Amino acid sequence: MATLVGGITTSHVPAIGRAIAKNLQSDPYWKPFFDGFAPVHRWLEAEAKPDVVVVVYNDHGLNFFLDKMPTFAVGAAAEYRNADEGWGIPQVPPFTGEQDLSWHLIDSLIGDDFDLTTCQEMVVDHAFTLPMALLWPTQVWPVKVVPVCINTVQFPLPSAKRCYALGEAIGRAVRSWKNDQRVLVLGTGGLSHQLDGQRAGFINKDFDLQFMESLVHDPRWATQFSIHELVEKTGTQGVELLMWLATRGALGDEVRRVHQNYHIPISNTASGLMVMAPRD
Ligand code: DHB
Ligand code: FE
Repeated sequence: MATLVGGITTSHVPAIGRAIAKNLQSDPYWKPFFDGFAPVHRWLEAEAKPDVVVVVYNDHGLNFFLDKMPTFAVGAAAEYRNADEGWGIPQVPPFTGEQDLSWHLIDSLIGDDFDLTTCQEMVVDHAFTLPMALLWPTQVWPVKVVPVCINTVQFPLPSAKRCYALGEAIGRAVRSWKNDQRVLVLGTGGLSHQLDGQRAGFINKDFDLQFMESLVHDPRWATQFSIHELVEKTGTQGVELLMWLATRGALGDEVRRVHQNYHIPISNTASGLMVMAPRD
């Protein structure tokens, strides 16, 4: 059986791609953000050693547009290419799909009553590519991938409770995959930010820190809030924290916090980073 080695949750912002392309990692603006990843690199190499990454992220209107918007979608492609225009980031190398896990995940999740969209062709955006580039800065990907998308673009969105349950089902699926592989769950999005409208630039540090703490000690805490309450507390795009909830749901009841970083701002976003390992 496969081993679920842990979960990493991180913000994603297109400007990170530009910073990487221009080698600005030591720039005073970027250093507190990029420095947060050094312990993650050590954990990945020394402990987690994943073979496969299930990337839980929200597409931003690239692979899915308003005309067809699945609530939950799972990739089952042989390869995933970046198609994000963003800041004009250079093309990152394509990602190789782990199709056997894709189809096992799809079977298992649909068996658990999640009505998914399955995607045998899929392009990926900054929410997928940049967190991968933050984890593996050489961009020589040592892992295969399975993308899982949660809609945060077009209302109605799935509830926090439903996303946590999706994560629990992902955890069950990974642990029942008959393949001796090490699987990491990577959730990308959030934390508090709002990119447009009257509250553009809105950030809620108190809520973000309480949310991060809750993932360790009381992981279902945020599932008490409706989507509209989450938008109120975290901003329109802060609701991307649903990816963190799904990732946490996959890890089981008890986790060990391996690492955490929180930095304001990156662009208009409160950037958070957590590494959690299941306590078996
Ligand atoms: C921006 C875009 C995002 O998708 C996000 O999650 C945060 C910030 C941006 O354009 O700055
Ligand atoms: Fe986003």
